[in-house]
Amino acid sequence: MRCLLILAHPRRDSLCGALFDACADGARQAGVECRELILSEIRFDPDVHEVSPEQQPLEPDLVRAQRDIHWAEHLVFVYPTWWGTFPALLKGFLDRVMTPGFAFRHVAPDKWDKLLAGRTADLITTMDTPPLIYRFVYRAPGRRALVRATLGYCGLRTARIEAFGSVVASSAAQRSRWLDQSRAIGSRLIHGALSPAQRRRQRLFAWLAALRLQFYPMTWIAYTVGALAAPARANRCP
Ligand SMILES: Cc1cc2nc3c(=O)[nH]c(=O)nc-3n(C[C@H](O)[C@H](O)[C@H](O)COP(=O)(O)O)c2cc1C
Repeated sequence: MRCLLILAHPRRDSLCGALFDACADGARQAGVECRELILSEIRFDPDVHEVSPEQQPLEPDLVRAQRDIHWAEHLVFVYPTWWGTFPALLKGFLDRVMTPGFAFRHVAPDKWDKLLAGRTADLITTMDTPPLIYRFVYRAPGRRALVRATLGYCGLRTARIEAFGSVVASSAAQRSRWLDQSRAIGSRLIHGALSPAQRRRQRLFAWLAALRLQFYPMTWIAYTVGALAAPARANRCP
């Protein structure tokens, strides 16, 4: 497992920074090959000034970041929840680094190749809102944007999402448990990014895809109608 850990907090001495270190420690101690990318320590313009991002020359740190993303089989993003989503630092990084030709390639107006396919990602985020409120009342806007509109668009499958909160109401003991959890997330990576249940589901979907069920809709409709009609017919027989 080759893992790239990305810290997307403007302050290194934050809870996110400590969770990032714990996760990296856990992963390394378990034998996972890790690289680290601390966004507050690299230099890049967060704004895209051209019509298409690939027209804007990449700063050397972004070239290195693309090389690290390409190298990695698994990415771990650690970031605080700010205004429901994530800090501008992470948004600017994604705007600049996930360029056409690197992260995706349009092959038709409504079709694109996902150039980072096969990779997985974990999200670790902190928030002051209790995570259940964030998820079920606010409908987790940051998580959905990252998982679907950004990572999913480029072919990265999100394996695990961990939200730690409420930070503002947490005790020292609680924060220490969160650090242990973050370390465990890192060390578990030695067994692969997906949990056993996710791996079973992936195998099931691979089988279903191989069956190409979409090619036999009439057959399946006929089977279903037949199966539904059979008990009624059987009841009519003496
Ligand atoms: C600019 C800003 C916006 C924030 N917006 C939210 C928010 O929308 N929801 C929330 O639960 N917490 C919000 N917070 C609180 C942070 O999530 C919280 O301070 C942080 O997760 C604590 O972890 P840290 O020490 O790693 O920064 C915000 C904090 C800042 C500074």
